[in-house]
Amino acid sequence: GRPAHLDILGQRYPTDNITNITPSILAKVPLRLHTRPKHPIHTLRTIIESHYPDFAHHSSLSPVVSLYKNFDELSFPSDHPGRAVTESYYVNKDMMLRTHTSAHEVEVFRCGEDKWLLTADVYRRDEIDGSHYPVFHQMEGARIFSADAAGMAEAAEDNARLRAHLAQAHVVIEDVPHVTPTNPSQPTHDPAHSALVAENLKLSLNSLLLALFGPATGAAAPLRVRWIEAYFPFTSPSFEVEVFFRGKWLEILGSGVVRQATLDTANVPNKMGWAFGLGLERIAMILYSIPDIRLFWSTDERFLSQFKENEITTFQPYSKYPSCFKDVSFWTSQCVAPHENDFCDLVRDVAGDLVEDVQKADFFVHPKTNRTSLCFRINYRSMDRSLSNEEVNEMQSQVVSRLQQQFGVEIR
Ligand code: PHE
Repeated sequence: GRPAHLDILGQRYPTDNITNITPSILAKVPLRLHTRPKHPIHTLRTIIESHYPDFAHHSSLSPVVSLYKNFDELSFPSDHPGRAVTESYYVNKDMMLRTHTSAHEVEVFRCGEDKWLLTADVYRRDEIDGSHYPVFHQMEGARIFSADAAGMAEAAEDNARLRAHLAQAHVVIEDVPHVTPTNPSQPTHDPAHSALVAENLKLSLNSLLLALFGPATGAAAPLRVRWIEAYFPFTSPSFEVEVFFRGKWLEILGSGVVRQATLDTANVPNKMGWAFGLGLERIAMILYSIPDIRLFWSTDERFLSQFKENEITTFQPYSKYPSCFKDVSFWTSQCVAPHENDFCDLVRDVAGDLVEDVQKADFFVHPKTNRTSLCFRINYRSMDRSLSNEEVNEMQSQVVSRLQQQFGVEIR
């Protein structure tokens, strides 16, 4: 059964029937990797902060936020899929673990800050594999100008400076128009102003990406950056950015011109500006050559001792320990079949970081009985040591018994 309350960072919260935060997730909340000197997540954050020296830097806001703050305040519709209990972690019907750093936009703008960066741990329910983890770190950046001739002159001047800087650089940028019918400026914005702000966003980020990826590529070929039209409920126009690195296009961030509703709510209606949100693990895995996202949480000295303050170095992998695959197959009536994310949270709660990967191996609906058969294949592997058979069998039998208890399934 569920506990009567959850204690998170010294605060006690009542639970209810939508509470879905497991003990293994709760245990991650105090760790705050972005604040640990030498940790890759901290170093990357520091490098990005140093690229924006005149911005305010925030990094200690609580991950427990209201649903209102995470979604409604940012114009998310009431039926947005991110709100589902299978997608996000709920403390109770009113409070949740933030799913993105954008949840703090309104409060930071409300403080009167015009240029700021904010780093934080964010939480999303997800599958289990080498590049997904239910806790990760994002950095939000924003800049707002006064929405008048003076503010627009400031943006134009900054654009000229950044354009000159980028013209010298070894970078090829595939751009999209700042404003189009499918990626429109907002009704209250002069399209020319919107274009100036979008251009300032693009130039600021191109310059950051050049600083992060330019030197690392080291090669004769220029860095390639690609801008793509996107959609977010709280920005318009909106963009995603990809970087071509070691043969692949990598999605790096989401961004756009901040919706005026956000700035109105923050009590700064006479401003306009941009915001972006980037995932730190994604970028750190690339820059440090870290092969598995679980490594960021490792307390093994073979991992931690490799890193230096303020410097990105190439990770030297230590030996890989053997995998152990275990299947679990079960029958369930269709309407109560556990969601894949429910299954993954159950497995994580039993096995923690000893699980590397969970795959849905088989799925079918029996034509006569209409019952569903599901099979999941769990890959148990520690990053630090060999697992014994007994240990793996014990974890697997706990997975099986919890599956029976929590979801009433019939093991095949
Ligand atoms: N919060 C968005 C995400 O997590 C990214 C974003 C930030 C988009 C700011 C636009 C502006 O996907």
